Amino acid sequence: MDPDTIRAQADRRRTFAIISHPDAGKTTLTEKFLLYSGKVAQAGSVKARGGRRSARSDWMAMEQDRGISIASTVLQFDFRDHVVNLLDTPGHRDFSEDTYRVLAAVDAAVMVLDAAKGIEAQTLKLFEVCKAREMPIITFVNKWDRPGREPLELMDQIEELIGLETTPVTWPVGPGGDFRGVIDRRDGGFVRFTRTSRGATEAPEELVDAETAAADEGAAWEQAHEEVMLLDEIGATHDPKSFMAGETSPLFVGSALTNFGVRHLLDSVIDLAPAPAARETVEGAYRPLEEPFSAFVFKVQANMDPSHRDRVAFMRVNSGHFERGMQVTHERLNKPFTTKFATSVFGSDRDTVDEGYPGDVIGLVNASDLRIGDTLFAGDAVAFPPIPRFEPELFWSARPVDVSKSKQFRKGLDQLDEEGVVQVLRDLDAPTASPVLGAVGQMQFEVFAHRLENEFGAKVELAPTSWAVARRTDAATAAEVRQLRGTRVLGSLDGTLFALFDSTGRLARTEADNPDWLLERVVETAG
Ligand code: G4P
Repeated sequence: MDPDTIRAQADRRRTFAIISHPDAGKTTLTEKFLLYSGKVAQAGSVKARGGRRSARSDWMAMEQDRGISIASTVLQFDFRDHVVNLLDTPGHRDFSEDTYRVLAAVDAAVMVLDAAKGIEAQTLKLFEVCKAREMPIITFVNKWDRPGREPLELMDQIEELIGLETTPVTWPVGPGGDFRGVIDRRDGGFVRFTRTSRGATEAPEELVDAETAAADEGAAWEQAHEEVMLLDEIGATHDPKSFMAGETSPLFVGSALTNFGVRHLLDSVIDLAPAPAARETVEGAYRPLEEPFSAFVFKVQANMDPSHRDRVAFMRVNSGHFERGMQVTHERLNKPFTTKFATSVFGSDRDTVDEGYPGDVIGLVNASDLRIGDTLFAGDAVAFPPIPRFEPELFWSARPVDVSKSKQFRKGLDQLDEEGVVQVLRDLDAPTASPVLGAVGQMQFEVFAHRLENEFGAKVELAPTSWAVARRTDAATAAEVRQLRGTRVLGSLDGTLFALFDSTGRLARTEADNPDWLLERVVETAG
């Protein structure tokens, strides 16, 4: 295919993820995006909401419903002659590693906050992960139809907690709970919103001049107007360069429930978020968009839908034109790979995907050879950087309750390791010894146990181990660490070595005594 067409198609694409705390409104917002794109005629028609939340974990709640949130993984819709790819992320800190993997496949993120809650300690890690990737982040302060915090206070909190300076593009007129519209700071105009019944259809918008706004809205307008002047004075104004570097974040205020501000946000994804660009390779070069097809796998999931008991590997296209059925090369295995079973996943429906361009996400069904981080390519060989696993923070052991289920147990263990549900850490010198399961959050173990039992028929018994903390290490340091008491060196699926310590005190002393040893965190987050 000619390079101009590929570049033009890439330019039309916006690939992003929404990250949010549970309950901040990610699902509602996603539905509203579909409403505004015309993909659904009325909000609420995508899935029945009732009974969706079991609160045990996002994953299981979604598991029960198999609604749009989990089975979708990626939604593709058209908006303003663009193709929008919206990737799902789990909204809980325990799954921050999943979020990190999804963020490897997007060009921008929308961070949704509940106006009354701001950034909560529990989900801080999720946002830090986003910040750690230095990607452009658009902030959406949701639920402004209800009493919330002062927006200036929220801006301070975001900066204090995650070091992200926000630059409001829209500013609310009317306090939380009495939301009338927004000032669009790009042109200073007032956009007044009108509620529709249950927010099922688009909220009508009316552009009102300053004089009329002052007359109609009185004190609410005065206050918003003054605050906007303050924002001008302190220079909190959208700056494309620092936005692209992940240092500043354009901020929008709205209400996904009533649709207020949803269009502004969706417009900003088109206008502000970047189109796919040449991707960095392991060698530090960049694969131009118009080169032949290349893609990398960022997510693998088996048994997503009970009616399709299969395994789907999701890849993001980085260059060229993908055509279903094309022969490509599997970089890690260095062997040909066929792409006959390419699908998109929307709700519980699967559609065959016939083609894709940079930025698109394609599910490859029953591609059992594909793992997270694998590269597929046509034309000149290329490999994209692996997606690092976090150092685990919790260490458990697992064994099948019924020993006759050992085979199913081992099969499930391998599968869930490859999906990154937990990390299976093994003693590389004694591969048959019982592994240690590593996770960032407790719920990962719950999902692990739940899936082993339900999908593989092996009920498991989990128990905490005495390990307290892990650091990534190399072979030289590993050899030294093995000599110490209260330590162990284990390897993960991708060959990463982790040094485990039985206390944070021992780690601190080891680091202090041996400053030249390699004992590092994989991703720097505070929480
Ligand atoms: P999540 O995916 O981030 O977990 O959040 P979700 O969209 O499910 O929203 C969580 C709750 O917040 C839902 O209420 C939803 O209706 C509500 N919500 C979302 N956006 C807004 C908003 O802009 N304003 C207000 N006031 N509420 C909002 P629920 O009662 O838990 O569920 P439901 O019975 O409404 O479905």
